[in-house]
Amino acid sequence: MKDYIIHHEWKIIEEGFEPSFNRISESVFSIGNGKMGQRANFEEKYTGDTLNGTYVAGIYYPDKTRVGWWKNGYPEYFAKIINSTNWIGIHVKINGEELDLAKVKILSFTRELDMQHGLLSRRFVTEMKNGNQIEVCSHRFVSMAASEIGAVRYSIKALNFSGKIQIKPFLDGDVVNEDSNYDEKFWVEIARAVGGQEGYLTLETLKTQFRLCTGMWFHATKNGEKTNSEIINSDREKYVEAIQKIDVSAGDEIVVEKLTATVSSLYYDKEILVEKAQEAIELASGAGYDLLFESHKNYWLKKWETSDIKIEGDVAAQQGIRFNIFQLNQTYTGEDERMNIGPKGFTGEKYGGVTYWDTEAYCFPFFLSTAPQKVSRSLLVYRHKHLQRAIENAEKLGFSGGAALYPMVTINGEECHNEWEITFEEVHRNGAIAYAVYNYVNYTGDKDYLAPYGFEVLLGISRFWSLRVNWSEAKQKYVMLGVTGPNEYENNVNNNFHTNYIAVWTLKYTLEVIEYLKKEHPYLFEELVRKWKFNELQETARWHHIIENMYFARDPKNKIYLQQDGFLDKALIPADELPEDQRPINQNWSWDRILRSPYIKQADTLQSFFLFQEDFSLGELKRHFDFYEPLTVHESSLSPCVHSILAAKIGYENKAYEMYLRTARLDLDDYNNDTEDGLHITSMGGTWMSFVMGLGGMRVVNGKLTFRPFIPENWKSYSFRIDFRGAHLEVIMQHDKFTVVNHSTVDVMVTIWEEERKIAGNDKQETIVHEKQSA
Ligand code: BGC
Repeated sequence: MKDYIIHHEWKIIEEGFEPSFNRISESVFSIGNGKMGQRANFEEKYTGDTLNGTYVAGIYYPDKTRVGWWKNGYPEYFAKIINSTNWIGIHVKINGEELDLAKVKILSFTRELDMQHGLLSRRFVTEMKNGNQIEVCSHRFVSMAASEIGAVRYSIKALNFSGKIQIKPFLDGDVVNEDSNYDEKFWVEIARAVGGQEGYLTLETLKTQFRLCTGMWFHATKNGEKTNSEIINSDREKYVEAIQKIDVSAGDEIVVEKLTATVSSLYYDKEILVEKAQEAIELASGAGYDLLFESHKNYWLKKWETSDIKIEGDVAAQQGIRFNIFQLNQTYTGEDERMNIGPKGFTGEKYGGVTYWDTEAYCFPFFLSTAPQKVSRSLLVYRHKHLQRAIENAEKLGFSGGAALYPMVTINGEECHNEWEITFEEVHRNGAIAYAVYNYVNYTGDKDYLAPYGFEVLLGISRFWSLRVNWSEAKQKYVMLGVTGPNEYENNVNNNFHTNYIAVWTLKYTLEVIEYLKKEHPYLFEELVRKWKFNELQETARWHHIIENMYFARDPKNKIYLQQDGFLDKALIPADELPEDQRPINQNWSWDRILRSPYIKQADTLQSFFLFQEDFSLGELKRHFDFYEPLTVHESSLSPCVHSILAAKIGYENKAYEMYLRTARLDLDDYNNDTEDGLHITSMGGTWMSFVMGLGGMRVVNGKLTFRPFIPENWKSYSFRIDFRGAHLEVIMQHDKFTVVNHSTVDVMVTIWEEERKIAGNDKQETIVHEKQSA
């Protein structure tokens, strides 16, 4: 754990430059706009430790799989959203000496991310080896308003010398991925051009042949006046630059504005890419940095209006939650159904920037409640588009009859993951995808989604479950053998509770959807039956039989469901009895020892208790929480959020708060010592859930919003905003009262604790005065 980020309500601030934290800060200060993003690398040269990262959504390379021992069914490649043209670069020389923070004396340094306006800044004073002192101030943003545009404003002030400042804005496409499996470069050059203030670089990915054209335009001023010093251009393969040497005296300030455009063959014909980049550059340079920033800033201000969470009385918690919201919003905007949310978003190479079950299980509720409905719908459509691939994926593993197994990791629907215990066994991901369909319909009321999209996905997944289980003569029950549950510290287990439970749930929900379609859309349903050769009678008869006869391992003594068969044979020693120096166990123990241990990486049985809360009584929940929480080591970032929500429901408020803080400041405080790899973007969705569903106790039950909120003792108040079925609500919790304000024209019914209230539209509010704070 680290503690170097200064607490501030709206800003992330680093004071002083600590090179050993640089990779962490590069992750933490990342910026993006859903279409592209980048780590907070420096504009000037830096020869110290750094991970350069500029990523463009949807542009990937199929890196050939590398494993120790090949197993049939492994995918041929792992898709990676790859590092692409670095457009931020402006190298600087002061009287011939290169500015490089790894080499000069740093007199002061501040890095700042203004989340309210989406602006990354640095300010530093350095002394060069030749004694020349300069003050540098840089600002940078990736435009939310014009998604192809990135902008840098970089100023250099000569503090104590006269002479020459040389600036060199450039585009560099000669980049690599640190995690490349065979140390290959992924890009080839198609064209380059540079002249005066402009430069263009067109590159294409090997194998996938995505084409990307990046354009730059810059201009420099001295003390606010245009400089007329000569611009010298040069270029080489995958690289273009412009150099300007400007005479300065002490006190003079040079300001460089560099505007860039990144356009790709995802949106335009390859032949017109350069033209499109030129058009974007012309528009951007016509508008200028200030105007571009203005529209970017306004986008953010509007976004905050509908998605902010405010906490009074705890700056660390306030900063934490805003950081999570900020990062989620700059990772996914839902405009393009081909895009999704990588576990690290655009902030690092780990997990390849591609899609996991994390999206449906952790991020979906955030977008459902804080973004226009089409955003969460886009996430569902992404999976619907991949249905055929999921069917082929299941076929590769030997399943037939239209059974669909969605991949563990994917970008285009094909499986990319290549560890047998996850690729073949972590099948609960299929359930998360089915659950997202339910979640969407339950929250929005948009039942039309079910025909045909939702139904088709549910049918494929139900068919998979129906084949994945088998009848055990010995048990006279259906069993599911050889799986890995969400807890990846157990592999190849039989009857993982969560997997069995979500399988049964999917079958039940699909049956419900069939009834709905038969009633409301009979003709469409007939068509679907034909299209999918759905033998309703026969197939659903088996589903019913599975629903009624699924096996769940139980411990009759403790009256709990067991995570899997044989779980009680383990030495059940609570995790807090483990010596500190052995934690995290995944960095200190052999895999064999982990597998034999009782320790749970992330919510597993409790994942079902979270998703299917209405199915269990509070007493049952408490028993399971008390049994599993002490064995859970939370070594996945996706874990504390689920435990926080359940603890809140039980009334374990301290535990809920402790777990909430752990998830909210996970990256800011580098809890798991891995922020340098990138931010835990998908777990940020979990943080949002633990706030709104944990502290706020929000649920949608039978189409109605319900709240059972509590407030941590040291906070004065908190509030959050949600969209719900056309209404926009602000929910405010204080120690003595709970208020819901309706900022829309649509009336809503809400249940607060047990009281049902109608909240009329037009800024009307309902306040409930309460004495108790807990559930
Ligand atoms: C977790 C998985 C998750 C993956 C990507 C792993 O550590 O165990 O559940 O899908 O990270 O976030």
